[in-house]
Amino acid sequence: MSNRILIVDDETSIRHALAGVLEDEGFITLAASSAEEALELLDTASVDLVLLDIWLGDGMDGIAALERIRERCSLPVIMISGHGTIETAVQATRRGAFDFIEKPLSYDKIVLAVSNGLRFARLERENLLLREKAPQTPTLTGESAAMRQVRRQIEMVAPTEAWVLIRGEHGTGKELVAQAIHRLSRSSEQPMVEVNCAAIPEELIESELFGHEKGSFTGANAARRGRFDQADGGILFLDEIGDMSLATQAKILRILQEQRFERVGGSKTVKVNVRVLAATNKNLEEDIEAGRFRADLFWRLNVVPIQVPPLRDRLEDIPLLVADMARSLAEKGLKAREFTADAIATMMAHPWPGNVRELRNFVERLAIMCQERIIDEAQVRLFLAPRANGAASGIAGRCDALLAADYKTAKRLFEREYLQHKLQENGHNISRTAERVGLERSHLHKKLKSLDIVQ
Ligand SMILES: Nc1ncnc2c1ncn2[C@@H]1O[C@H](COP(=O)(O)OP(=O)(O)OP(=O)(O)O)[C@@H](O)[C@H]1O
Ligand SMILES: [Mg+2]
Repeated sequence: MSNRILIVDDETSIRHALAGVLEDEGFITLAASSAEEALELLDTASVDLVLLDIWLGDGMDGIAALERIRERCSLPVIMISGHGTIETAVQATRRGAFDFIEKPLSYDKIVLAVSNGLRFARLERENLLLREKAPQTPTLTGESAAMRQVRRQIEMVAPTEAWVLIRGEHGTGKELVAQAIHRLSRSSEQPMVEVNCAAIPEELIESELFGHEKGSFTGANAARRGRFDQADGGILFLDEIGDMSLATQAKILRILQEQRFERVGGSKTVKVNVRVLAATNKNLEEDIEAGRFRADLFWRLNVVPIQVPPLRDRLEDIPLLVADMARSLAEKGLKAREFTADAIATMMAHPWPGNVRELRNFVERLAIMCQERIIDEAQVRLFLAPRANGAASGIAGRCDALLAADYKTAKRLFEREYLQHKLQENGHNISRTAERVGLERSHLHKKLKSLDIVQ
């Protein structure tokens, strides 16, 4: 994908010259003739790097614009000046400019500075991702009898080779259970291969799981190993197993019985040794009754069932969960929060139909929306109040997005609220919701994942 460079200069000829040079190198360019115009563009367009002139005519100057840009995002900014002195350069880099180039502009210098800036930004992003990933060994928080029971089952089943069916409502922590089993299993050194059956278009699930031979269907330009192959000798986590077609279920059953299968479009039999962990929030007994799920597969999978309890059955875990969530939000850069005993008691009286995920989103929402460090009962009540008759809190009762300080947060809050509402309307059925809101199922799933509505 081409990188997008925003050129900010009040002189038309310079903008054109820079755009020419950069487009020749394969970059996409956007242009603004003033700082104000540039800031507006940054709100709406996606940009990877900014070239910013220090002298910008009558409006805001480049150094002030640099500060505003750095406040909003972490894009690399390269300053340009015809009147460059060491002092301005030092001033600009102190304020976070990535580099400084002087007019007259040299072709090579620009291309080098831009490439360096982009490389630096990419490394910074990767670093951040790694840092985010590293300390995240998510644990199942909770000391309730129900949670202890789940942890005991995990400890017992993990070191064996048994296939496990993890069941429970939405957001109860099924994925965390699968990760915990993997961590305590004999193949913990090998990554667990995950497949979310709901996220893959129906017609591609088989090829995703079993791989395909070259030319087996339109678009299969090369042979490809499936997830079962990739997980050989280790664990495959089949999430949302209730979303698989009957044909795929039949193949899975065969693997379970014989540990072998054929690739899509191939006749060769592939032998693997895979341990499958499966999860679902569906009522599989009901699906069996309706002919949507194979009874024999269910019984084979259900040898070791782990039922993850809904949050309403272990409300006593809420204080620990909230404390953990507030801590992890603070680690991500949100303000540190504390809750009064009454605030916690109010949360413990709520049924949490969306379970731990709903609780986590709620705590995040409070952390974003409340100004005070200590959150009390009144605030919890205000934000727990049902949306429909939320008139008491005025605009906030209708939509949090309107109260958000910046556009990005507002957009995220709105999307989250809208999609959560639609999902609820459609009984948490992703396919049906996708159809109703006019999105492709896999696209909707990606969106729900990025908004933390599903995992
Ligand atoms: N016991 C727990 N302790 C701490 N965090 C938890 C716990 N259970 C769930 N969570 C958090 O709640 C969120 C939802 O958990 P998870 O994705 O495992 O649920 P799920 O049952 O797989 O949901 P879905 O059916 O929607 O896929 C995650 O952010 C997870 O970290
Ligand atoms: Mg899940």
